[in-house]
Amino acid sequence: MTDLIKTRVENGVMFVVMNRADKMNAITQAMYLGMTQAFQQAREDDSVRAVLLAAEGDSFTAGNDIADFMRLGQVDGNLVDSDVFKFLKALADLDKPLVAAVRGRAVGVGLTMLLHCDIVVVAKDAKLSAPFINLALVPEAASTLLMPRVIGHPRAFELFALGETIDGGQAYEWGLANRAVPMAAVEAVARDFAERLAQRAPNAVRQTKRLMRDAEGMWDLMQREGEIFSNQMKSPEALEAFTAFMQKRQPNFG
Ligand code: COA
Repeated sequence: MTDLIKTRVENGVMFVVMNRADKMNAITQAMYLGMTQAFQQAREDDSVRAVLLAAEGDSFTAGNDIADFMRLGQVDGNLVDSDVFKFLKALADLDKPLVAAVRGRAVGVGLTMLLHCDIVVVAKDAKLSAPFINLALVPEAASTLLMPRVIGHPRAFELFALGETIDGGQAYEWGLANRAVPMAAVEAVARDFAERLAQRAPNAVRQTKRLMRDAEGMWDLMQREGEIFSNQMKSPEALEAFTAFMQKRQPNFG
């Protein structure tokens, strides 16, 4: 497993920690694979009763690594077979409680993955955004259904289409998080949630999560989104957006 994803189990809680702080934890294919393997292990290991997703450094994650997007955009084949989609499937299939500890930036998949977490603790000053359309892409991770369901269509559309940032306090008010706390308290509050969940009757927790989340339906939608995402990723407008990011300039969509 890549050392960019660190895992450990303590008190029935598996910690899955993104560890690429110098790139704001932008997620590479190897990191998706690392998280997929961790979630699979969490499902199979009876001693794991809850999973806590966290990150080293100042940011939760700046989303998918954009250099990886460019590489993937040039490769033939179905994006749905890639490690990103294996990760998304593992996220939908994870039937043990998933707690997220979010400080700093949560961009793109960094925000949409929170829609699959059962408990979300954000820093009040966290910065969350889903700028898929800024990159000439479409939202993924079943967020085209889950985001409007949680925050309503108008807010969800604005978030996606304009790619603007909301803070942790706003995320809490809109129902995207269970708690918004001072940055220094995020990990401890998230850990407390996870440890309390780990003490509950494991099968009752698992069955409740299965009843509340339609893993198969989520995966169907993820694949439909993935097809359109994949086509967009290979488009001239996406190439312009990725190149602009690498060159630290604004894109020009003509
Ligand atoms: N992919 C690859 N590298 C990324 C990255 C990403 N998604 N996000 C940040 N980084 C890298 C930057 O290239 C930079 O690396 P460098 O120091 O080697 O130049 C480093 O992380 C710090 O980022 P920087 O842009 O300098 O920080 P900032 O505070 O000025 O801006 C963001 C923070 C999150 C607003 C900005 O980095 C950004 O827009 N990132 C892209 C987010 C994105 O669009 N993700 C995909 C969503 S679908």
